[in-house]
Amino acid sequence: ANQWPGLIEAYRPFLPVSESTPVVTLQEGNTPLIPVPTIAREIGRGVKVFVKYDGLNPTGSFKDRGMTMAISKAKEAGAKAVICASTGNTSASAAAYARRAEMRAFVVIPDGYVALGKLAQALLYGAEVIAIEGNFDDSLKIVRAMAEEYPVTLVNSVNPFRLEGQKTAAFEIVDALGDAPDWLCIPVGNAGNISAYWMGFCQYQQQGKCTHLPRMMGFQAAGSAPLICGEPIGDPQTLATAIRIGNPANWEKAIAVQKASEGEFNPVTDEEILAAYRLLAGSEGIFCEPASAASVAGLLKVKDRVPDNATVACVLTGNGLKDPDCAITHSENEVYAGIKPDLAKVAKVMGF
Ligand code: F0G
Repeated sequence: ANQWPGLIEAYRPFLPVSESTPVVTLQEGNTPLIPVPTIAREIGRGVKVFVKYDGLNPTGSFKDRGMTMAISKAKEAGAKAVICASTGNTSASAAAYARRAEMRAFVVIPDGYVALGKLAQALLYGAEVIAIEGNFDDSLKIVRAMAEEYPVTLVNSVNPFRLEGQKTAAFEIVDALGDAPDWLCIPVGNAGNISAYWMGFCQYQQQGKCTHLPRMMGFQAAGSAPLICGEPIGDPQTLATAIRIGNPANWEKAIAVQKASEGEFNPVTDEEILAAYRLLAGSEGIFCEPASAASVAGLLKVKDRVPDNATVACVLTGNGLKDPDCAITHSENEVYAGIKPDLAKVAKVMGF
């Protein structure tokens, strides 16, 4: 069949897999790079802006790129169970891929801070969900210790196979544009994805597939911005729960990426995140989750520094359907409720 085979088969020569690796796939990857002219117009000066809509992956986030690799390698090594800490998306993805590979999936989540759609997924995929009275950072500490003491494989982004899978998003962007973008804007939580993208761009440049490397522009929620504060945050806060992280596991890697790419880390407030979230949906028809909108919020915040005629790619890491509560609470739009099923009454509401 002439269909996309999933990213391991599509990028096999670039990935640490062999003939004996059992490929566990849901045909993830191959997500669209969509032009966003409304956002480009806000910047002007010939700047071109695209979003990498990774919310179109099988479980609705970029985590599937990492998980197809992590679960395939865990299966190859004979693992019977995997574990992760998660603000939600990793847990949904780990659960889906682990169950497909006939493994148990344990997910440890911060009680009360996981968006409804993500929790629904983890439960229906058959994960064993453990909600702890603590935040993501506390959860990660526990699962790291669990994986050392018990026969469970850790599939957070400290698992190197996760980053190997996630780097393929950079390949896809270069394949779509014909070269690397000038800037890559990306939300940063645990800092795995920014590190993975950088690996991907560097590997593609070594292969002669792009002529230059992008500046890596990482954005954190202002209330959860340890990389900008320069120290861990004990009580991180933001409505973008996906990136409500105070002590990123990939801290050193992220700083190295920022230095090597002459990039920056900048904070965006929840208000700025929500404005970008509404703009993407209401003007571009693209529904992402709040954490994802941080990339576009960040771009708009530093737009005066984008070079003339530059090409910018913003990563939209997760699907808006993940967090319906946020959409309903923060939409400026409302349902015309209580309308009788009467033609004249409906026409009146429509303004005819
Ligand atoms: N965007 C979304 C939608 C996420 O779910 C995450 C991380 C990030 C951005 C940040 O990526 O951690 O690689 O810097 N979510 C993790 C999770 C923490 O558990 O789902 P990062």
